Amino acid sequence: MDILTETRDNILRIAFNRPDKKNAITAAMYQALADAFQLAEQDTAIRVIFIHGHENVFTAGNDLEDFIKHPPKGSDSPVFQFLWQLSHASKPIVVAVSGPAIGVGTTMLLHCDLVYAAHSASFKLPFTQLGLCPEGASSLLLPQLAGYQRASEKLLLGEAFDAKEAKEMGLVSQILPDWELQGFAEEQAAKLAALPASSIRNTKRMLRSAQMAEVEQCIVSECEQFVAMLASPEAKEAFLAFMQKRKPDFKQFS
Ligand code: COA
Repeated sequence: MDILTETRDNILRIAFNRPDKKNAITAAMYQALADAFQLAEQDTAIRVIFIHGHENVFTAGNDLEDFIKHPPKGSDSPVFQFLWQLSHASKPIVVAVSGPAIGVGTTMLLHCDLVYAAHSASFKLPFTQLGLCPEGASSLLLPQLAGYQRASEKLLLGEAFDAKEAKEMGLVSQILPDWELQGFAEEQAAKLAALPASSIRNTKRMLRSAQMAEVEQCIVSECEQFVAMLASPEAKEAFLAFMQKRKPDFKQFS
């Protein structure tokens, strides 16, 4: 199973479990994630959602090979269903990030409530490097969080940044030694699960509601652009180059 789910002590634990491919996310994995979030909404026993990856990788983001084979076609596709469920979750989301968190691995953090990162964590929004555009409302939420200049540097250049910078940007709540990360994040999730569920849900709704309409609109419009750009020659060149383990050549396109 590439996505593991388990409900224990009122916490739905979701783990990326495809280490041989650096936890790159396929359409089937997005569907499993979307289904898990739907379950969390319906099951009153679930009070908190806790997401983590492996010790040395959170996720390498979209599986580029799978994106070619099963490109998302619109807002019904698993990737966008996942982003929609994630951004509409009424229960708090705690996340533990160690190693690389790339693409959606970084944008999803904008929708999580307690974000803990190990010193080894790194973040990257490589959309322009792939001939694509931002997703997951990152073009709205990242400038709000980190300021325009920081956000535009990350989204235009697509270069990796470390946990210290992610913390400065407000993307990460706390940085921990790698060996402490999982235990600490689990303890924080347990604290949330022990608090009154209605109080937690209302507080989360108040924290998020002011921008929800804008977030929804942004997810949809980014999705339309993203789907269109996936079919572009630039994206095809970038994906082919990744699979052939070479640098892409974008100079051939005007
Ligand atoms: N999609 C598909 N396969 C991926 C992948 C992705 N996003 N990321 C990694 N993999 C695969 C590699 O192709 C490789 O497969 P192979 O062993 O069959 O050749 C395997 O995972 C290990 O990756 P590798 O690149 O050798 O590991 P690394 O430790 O040197 O680097 C990363 C790890 C995550 C930094 C690097 O793989 C990477 O940059 N991946 C692409 C990230 C990306 O652009 N994601 C898309 C975001 S929209």
